[in-house]
Amino acid sequence: MAVQWYPGHMNKARKIIRSSMKEVDLVIEVMDARIPFSSENPLVKELRQHRPCIKILNKEDLADPEVTRLWLGHFEKEKGVKAQALSVLEKAKTKRLPDLCRKLLPERGGAVKSIRVMIMGIPNVGKSTLINTLAGKTLAKVGDEPAVTKHVSSAQQRIILDGDIALSDTPGILWPKIENENSSYRLAVTGAIKNTAIDFEDIALFAAEYLVDAYEDRVVERYKLKQCPTTDIGLLEEIGRKRGCLRPGGVIDLQRASEILIHDIRSGALGRLSFETPEMIAAETAVVEGGE
Ligand code: G4P
Repeated sequence: MAVQWYPGHMNKARKIIRSSMKEVDLVIEVMDARIPFSSENPLVKELRQHRPCIKILNKEDLADPEVTRLWLGHFEKEKGVKAQALSVLEKAKTKRLPDLCRKLLPERGGAVKSIRVMIMGIPNVGKSTLINTLAGKTLAKVGDEPAVTKHVSSAQQRIILDGDIALSDTPGILWPKIENENSSYRLAVTGAIKNTAIDFEDIALFAAEYLVDAYEDRVVERYKLKQCPTTDIGLLEEIGRKRGCLRPGGVIDLQRASEILIHDIRSGALGRLSFETPEMIAAETAVVEGGE
């Protein structure tokens, strides 16, 4: 079951962004390094056209460094794209971004021909944190909870950096475009989308199935197990047993075990995890396109 946002939202976003894009020289696209494919919106590529793009794989502090390296190589194959892993909470590295913009557009810059940059990305990937870090102050955030903002807003944050870079965020809200069912789960597991139609236990089962396969050692270490369970439900039951999540009669409370697992994933307690690799996505896309 894929997550569906509001019908027509994509068309509204397309219209508003296309019009603002006329005044943009360079796009900074922010993604979540743990799920770069699932947190990417294809509208960005469609609308930026020939403009250079810096793809930021943000929250690298939470992602598996080896997998992030694979994604950087994958994105750098795209024409006009410079990919950069980052944690926008890390100020020094983030503040080097304006120089990268200047390098990509050496013909612009200076007060007369300032570089006009649009920061794009789905909610929760770290756009506001990035803008605040670059601005050196906290700017008000436009609400983007699906339950709160049903209409694409045209409110936009704009700042000028060092007199030669004009930075603006996406006009309106770019919800994720989900064509691959696994992407809805990955967005939910990482907390990129919080209010989903997917049952919380289902989200935890999806995560557990992946973890027992891809991060067996982490699971064993975190929950002090003798060996890693081989199934999703097996892992939730072990977590429930170890953490005393029991209902009357000694039945394991899977809801509480699910909450523990998801919390541990999102907080980094299980270490740096990535939930998709370029290879996995190529295989999944082939299945989706084959109509299976
Ligand atoms: P947005 O504008 O794209 O919607 O994202 P925003 O900057 O609001 O960031 C969403 C959450 O992600 C924030 O946490 C923020 O602190 C966190 N975040 C942003 N960049 C990074 C990063 O590089 N590393 C880590 N670890 N976290 C990052 P929050 O306000 O606590 O919200 P939430 O976590 O409860 O969603």
